[in-house]
Amino acid sequence: MRVCVVGSGGREHALAHVLGRTATSVVVTPGNPGIPGSVATPPEEIDADLFVIGPEAPLVDGLADRLRAQGRLVFGPGADGARLEGSKAWMKQVLVDAGVPTAAYAAFGPDDESAALDFLASLPGPYVVKTDGLAAGKGVVVTESLDEARGAVGAYLSGEAFGAAGQRLVIEEFLDGPELSVLAVCDGRRAVPLAPAQDFKRVGDDDAGPNTGGMGAYSPVPVAGPDVVAEVMATAVEPTLAALADRGVDYRGVLYAGLVLTASGPKVLEYNVRFGDPETQVVVPRLSSDLVELLAQAADGALTAAPTFVDDAFVTVVCASEGYPAAPRTGDVIDGIDAAEATGATVFCAGVAADGAGRLVTGGGRVLAVTGSGPSLADARHAAYRAVGCISWPGMHHRGDIARQAAAS
Ligand code: AMP
Ligand code: GLY
Repeated sequence: MRVCVVGSGGREHALAHVLGRTATSVVVTPGNPGIPGSVATPPEEIDADLFVIGPEAPLVDGLADRLRAQGRLVFGPGADGARLEGSKAWMKQVLVDAGVPTAAYAAFGPDDESAALDFLASLPGPYVVKTDGLAAGKGVVVTESLDEARGAVGAYLSGEAFGAAGQRLVIEEFLDGPELSVLAVCDGRRAVPLAPAQDFKRVGDDDAGPNTGGMGAYSPVPVAGPDVVAEVMATAVEPTLAALADRGVDYRGVLYAGLVLTASGPKVLEYNVRFGDPETQVVVPRLSSDLVELLAQAADGALTAAPTFVDDAFVTVVCASEGYPAAPRTGDVIDGIDAAEATGATVFCAGVAADGAGRLVTGGGRVLAVTGSGPSLADARHAAYRAVGCISWPGMHHRGDIARQAAAS
C-alpha cells in the first residue's frame, strides 16, 4: 500500500518510520527536512492508497471529509468527530451523556465572568481552568492559587490570552493520581487499544514549570496492566464510541483517552482525536503487528486485526529549543543526530528546518524526540539518555527524569 502521512512533527516521523516497515511507499506532507519522504504537495493532490492524518487542526478543519469526498481511504475522524478535541465543552457533554467517569465541570462564555468566578470560589482547589477551543496544549491552568485561577478566567474570557479559543472555557474538578494515555484505534463501531503510555506535560524535572505539548513518554506503564486497559475500554472508549455513533458520527481514527488513575478508578481528563505526541514515539515502534493493515482496516470500517506489542520497553525524551514553551528560539544548528542514532536509538525530527547550507537547524519548540528501547524501562531510559547526550545546539533543554520513577518501581 502507498501511504501518505499528513503532518510535520515527531509523531508523523514515528508513524512514517513504522508504516514504512510494510508499506510500498510512504510520503509525508508537509513533513520537515529531517523526515525522509517529505513532500510539499498538498494531501488532496497526492495519489496514495491510505491517508493517515496526524495533527488535530486539519481534522477539526475537515481534511478527512474532503479526502473521503474524493473517494480516498482515510484514517482520521471527520470534522464532526474531531469536535471532541475542538471543543472541550462538547466533549464534556458527550462524556456525561455516555456515562463516562470524568471530572465534574461547568462551561462558561464571554458574558459569564461573574458566574465563572463564583463557581471557582465554590471549589476546594487545586483549580483547573481550560480553554474551550484548541490552544496547542497550552490552554490549561492547574493551580493551588485561587487568584491565579481567577486571573486565567479574566484573561481567557476577554480573549487576551488565546483569542476566540479562550472566550469559552471549562472549569473542572481537580483529579488526583497518575496520568495515563490510552490510544484506541476505532473503525466507527469497534475499538482496539494500543499499549498504554505515560506522558510528561510540564517543561521541567519533577513537573516544575508550565505545561507543554509533552516532554517525554514511556511504554509499558507499570501501573497500567491489562486489567486497567480493559476497564478504560469498557468504561470510557466503548461508551464514547457508541455515544458518537448515536449522534451520527462514524468515528474512524484514534480516540486518545487522557486519564487520571484516581482512587475510585480511571477518569477521563480529555479526549484527543489523533495519535499523541510524544506517546506515538514509544507506542508505535513497540508494535509487533502490522500498522498499515491495522489503520487501513479501521479506515475501511472493518477492523479485525488486533495489535500486538513486543515486551521491550521504550522511552522517548524530547529535546526542546531555548525559550520553549513561552518563546522558542529558532535557527540554532543541530549537532549529533548521526552519533545519537549510531548508539542504536531512533531520533524523530519535529521542529526542525534546513538553513541555507542544508544543515538541520531548530525550527520550533519541540525539536527532536529521541527514543531508546531495551528489555526494561531502566534499560530503555539509559539508551534514550545516552543518545540525547550526543545531541547539542545552543540553548537545547530536556527533562532528566523521563520514566525515572517507573523504572525504579
Ligand atoms: P489537557 O490539555 O486537558 O490534557 O490538560 C493538560 C494537563 O493538565 C493534563 O495532562 C493534566 O496534567 C493537567 N490537568 C488537566 N485537567 C486536570 C484535572 N481536572 N485534574 C488534574 N489535572 C488536570
Ligand atoms: N502528549 C499529549 C498530546 O498529544 O496531546
